[in-house]
Amino acid sequence: MSEKKKFYVTTPIYYGNGLPHVGHFYSSTIADILYRYNKISGRESRFTTWIDENSQKAVIKAQEEGKNIMDYLDDMAAGHKKVWDHFGMEYTDFIRTTEPRHHVLVQKVLQHCFEKGDIYQWVYEWMYCVGCEAFKKDDDLVFLNKTSGETFPITPKVIESDNIIKVCPDHLETPDNIKEKNYFFKLSKYQTWIEEFYAANQDFVMPHFRYNEVKAFVERGLEDFSISRETNTFWISLPFDNTQVTYVWFDALFNYYTSCVASRWWDKDNENFIDESTLWPANLHVVGKDIIRFHAIFWPAMLASYFDLWEQGSDGIIHYQDSDISKLPETILTWWFFTVDGQKMSKSLWNVIEPISYSEQYSKELLTLYMLCAFPIWNDGNYDRSDAIKMYNAKLANNLWNLVNRVVVLSLKLDQAWVLEPQSLPEEISATLSYLNHSLSYSLNQDQIIELQKSLKEAGETIDVPVKGTMLSYDLKASLDNIFVMLDKLNKYADDTQPWITIKDDQVATKEALYTLAEWLRQVGLQLYPFFPEKMLEMFEKLWLEEYKFHLNRWKLQELIAKQEMFHIKEKWEPLFKRIDI
Ligand code: MSP
Repeated sequence: MSEKKKFYVTTPIYYGNGLPHVGHFYSSTIADILYRYNKISGRESRFTTWIDENSQKAVIKAQEEGKNIMDYLDDMAAGHKKVWDHFGMEYTDFIRTTEPRHHVLVQKVLQHCFEKGDIYQWVYEWMYCVGCEAFKKDDDLVFLNKTSGETFPITPKVIESDNIIKVCPDHLETPDNIKEKNYFFKLSKYQTWIEEFYAANQDFVMPHFRYNEVKAFVERGLEDFSISRETNTFWISLPFDNTQVTYVWFDALFNYYTSCVASRWWDKDNENFIDESTLWPANLHVVGKDIIRFHAIFWPAMLASYFDLWEQGSDGIIHYQDSDISKLPETILTWWFFTVDGQKMSKSLWNVIEPISYSEQYSKELLTLYMLCAFPIWNDGNYDRSDAIKMYNAKLANNLWNLVNRVVVLSLKLDQAWVLEPQSLPEEISATLSYLNHSLSYSLNQDQIIELQKSLKEAGETIDVPVKGTMLSYDLKASLDNIFVMLDKLNKYADDTQPWITIKDDQVATKEALYTLAEWLRQVGLQLYPFFPEKMLEMFEKLWLEEYKFHLNRWKLQELIAKQEMFHIKEKWEPLFKRIDI
C-alpha cells in the first residue's frame, strides 16, 4: 500500500430507525481509529459518519410511534450523536440526508446522469424488501416454514402455501409486490468499464476473497437497477419528474460526496457548490458484508456516470482509463456480521449490546479492545462477553496498567522530586521499538530495513520485518497484537532488570531501568493513542507530558516518536484500567 498524502474515511450511513448497536459501533470505531492514526501521521484527514434518513423503515417506525417523521428523525439524530460523542469519536462531519445541501447535490447528480442518457423510465414489477431497502428476485429469497420457523432454499419441488412462504433471509419478511413506473440507471452500459476497473485495481475491495466474489458477480453480467419510487414521501424528488422520489441507494451513496464537497464550500444562499475538494475521492469506505455490492459496483458506476468517466471505444463499448481512478474511491473495506454470545443480536433474546450502558457498566475501552483483537475485521466474529472481560483484564488491566503502576510506585520510592533524564536505550530495546514503529506504519526505506534486520538479529529477536505496515493495510488486529507483544517484552525487561530489587543499593541501574520503561511506555502509548485516546492522554499527562494533547495535533507521529523526553512522576495514580470482576 502506497504512502498517502491525505486520508478520507467513511462509515456507512446508519438507518435512522433505531439507535446504534455494536454492529454500527464496530464500523465507526474502525473509521475513527484509522482517521486518528492518519491525522497524527501528518496526512490531511477527514472522517464522516451520517444517518440515512430517507428510508421507508424510518417512515414506518415514526408512524408506529405516532410521531411526525421529522420529529422522529430529530430524536434519532440526537441519539446517534450522543453515542459517538460519548466515545469521543472524532468525526469531522455528521450530517443527515434530510439536509438541504444533500438534497441539492443529489438532484444535481440525477439531472446530470439523466441528461447523459444514463437514466431512463420503465414500468417495473418486482418484489421489494423494506428491511434491506432493496429489490429482490426469487434467487435472493428463501422459504420459511411458519410453523417450525425453519428456512430453506427455494426449489421447484416445494410448493408455496399459507404455511410455506417466500421471505428475505435477513429479515424473514415477505417482500412487497410492486408494479409501478420507475426510473432505471443503465448499469449494464458500464459492464466492460467495471471489469477493466477491477482488473486495474486489485485492492479495490478488501479482503481479497471479497474482491474475487464481487469480480465474479460482475462477470456474470450486470443489470440496470431502479433508482426511483412513485411514493409521495419527503425524500428527494427527481429533478426531471417530480412525481417520483429517488430510491435509497442513489441518495444514500452520494452522501460521501456531499459531505466532502459541501461541508466547507457550500454557498447556502445561492445553492452553489465548489466541486473540487482536495480530499475527494474517499480513500476508504468501511462497510458491512450486506452492502458490498452497492458500494463495490453501483457506486463506482454512478461516479463514472456523474464525472463523465467514459470513453467510448471504436467498438462502441465504454472503456476504463487509468486516469479515472482520480475520481473513484480507493478501497472498500468489508467486515462480517457478528453474533453476541453465539447468537444473532435480537432484542427478544436480550443480547443486544447497547454501547453507552455497556461501557458505563464496564469500561469504554472494553468494546474496542475485544472487537478489534478477538477476530480480524474481515472474519465472522462472535462477541463473547466473558471472553471480552478476560481479555480486558489480561491486556489492559494487567499487562499495561500493572507495568505503568510499577514505574509510578518505584519512581516515587526513589525520590519524589526526581526527574527521569533522557539516556540512551539499550541497543536491543531500540531495535525492538523501531521494529514496532516500522511494522505498524512502514516508515523505513530499504537500507534502514536491512539495518533493522541486522540489529534485531543481534538482539536475538526472531521476528520478521514486515513489508507492509499493518495500520496502512487496515489490519487493526495485527497492529494491536504487535503492540501487546511489545508490552509483553516490556514486562519481561522489568522482570529481568528488577528495579524493585536494585532500588535498595543501585540507584544508577534503577534509574536506567525506570527511564527505559517510561520511554518504552511513551512509545507504546503513542501507538495505542489512535485506539484509546482518552486513556493515553491521561498517561502522557501523568508522565509529565501534558503538552501531548496539543502535540498530537501539530506534530507527526514519527517526530514525536523520535523526540527525547524527560519524565517526572509526582504522585500515585488512580488505575488507568481497573480490573473488572467477572
Ligand atoms: N443505510 C444503509 C447504508 C447506506 S451506506 C451509503 C445501511 N444501514 S444499517 O444501519 O442497516 O447498517 C449499517 C451497517 O451496519 C451495515 O454495513 C451493516 O452491515 C452493519 N450491521 C448491522 N448489523 C450488524 C451486525 N450484527 N454485525 C456487524 N455489522 C452489522 O445498511
